[in-house]
Amino acid sequence: MLKISNLHTGYGETEVIRGLDLNAAPGQVLAILGRNGAGKTTILKAIMGLLPVSQGSIFLGDEDITEQAPFDIARKGIAYVPETRDIFPSLTVQENLELATRVPPHKKREWTIERVLDFFPRLGERLQNGGNQLSGGEQQMLAIARALLMNPRLLALDEPTEGLAPIIVQQIHDKLLELKNEGMTMVLVEQNFGFATSLADNICIIGRSTLAWEGSPDEILGRKDIQAQWLGV
Ligand SMILES: Nc1ncnc2c1ncn2[C@@H]1O[C@H](COP(=O)(O)OP(=O)(O)OP(=O)(O)O)[C@@H](O)[C@H]1O
Ligand SMILES: [Mg+2]
Repeated sequence: MLKISNLHTGYGETEVIRGLDLNAAPGQVLAILGRNGAGKTTILKAIMGLLPVSQGSIFLGDEDITEQAPFDIARKGIAYVPETRDIFPSLTVQENLELATRVPPHKKREWTIERVLDFFPRLGERLQNGGNQLSGGEQQMLAIARALLMNPRLLALDEPTEGLAPIIVQQIHDKLLELKNEGMTMVLVEQNFGFATSLADNICIIGRSTLAWEGSPDEILGRKDIQAQWLGV
């Protein structure tokens, strides 16, 4: 579904990622782990066309999406939930959702506002709240709901649990698990090791600007040495 080959990307002259290969198979959850500043967000931004790619390629299915415009990449089926969540603070929850439905979907519309409100009932109770009148958990739910309204083939999530209370983290976990069970392909950037290992099919650790380790959640759980070297857990 997503194939990244020999990716080089970064900011200006500074290459943050060098020679990265990553793959996410259809229906699988790929978790990207790594210390602060390792380059996890940078990878997602390059996938979304938000950063220049100096070498290498990014394919979505058969299609080369390397350095396409972010809007085109979104329309082709990758929905991005950024670390900053990017809720419009002066718009209501309803308006935030309606904006997301303006993007013409690349395939038959499976996710409607009605369906996302069914999926996140909490948002239904907050429809007239401003984006700036939501808890962190509600903001994250709104950000995911908005991404689903793009009817994605692949959902790219940047630290969805950051700053959230454990009970909310559990709720987000259960929702992402539901999506996974429905066959949604996901690329999940996380610092929460337990969250990532319980959802993912594959774990990729970014270190020294590239892929430092790759394996299954079961393998990494047994590799305290790798955890200590690359994650500091
Ligand atoms: N806009 C920018 N301009 C220049 N350098 C940047 C910019 N954004 C990030 N960097 C640098 O790129 C490197 C990787 O940053 P990135 O945000 O991808 O890390 P990360 O793995 O997502 O970290 P975190 O877990 O803290 O979110 C860091 O050294 C960072 O300082
Ligand atoms: Mg980041």
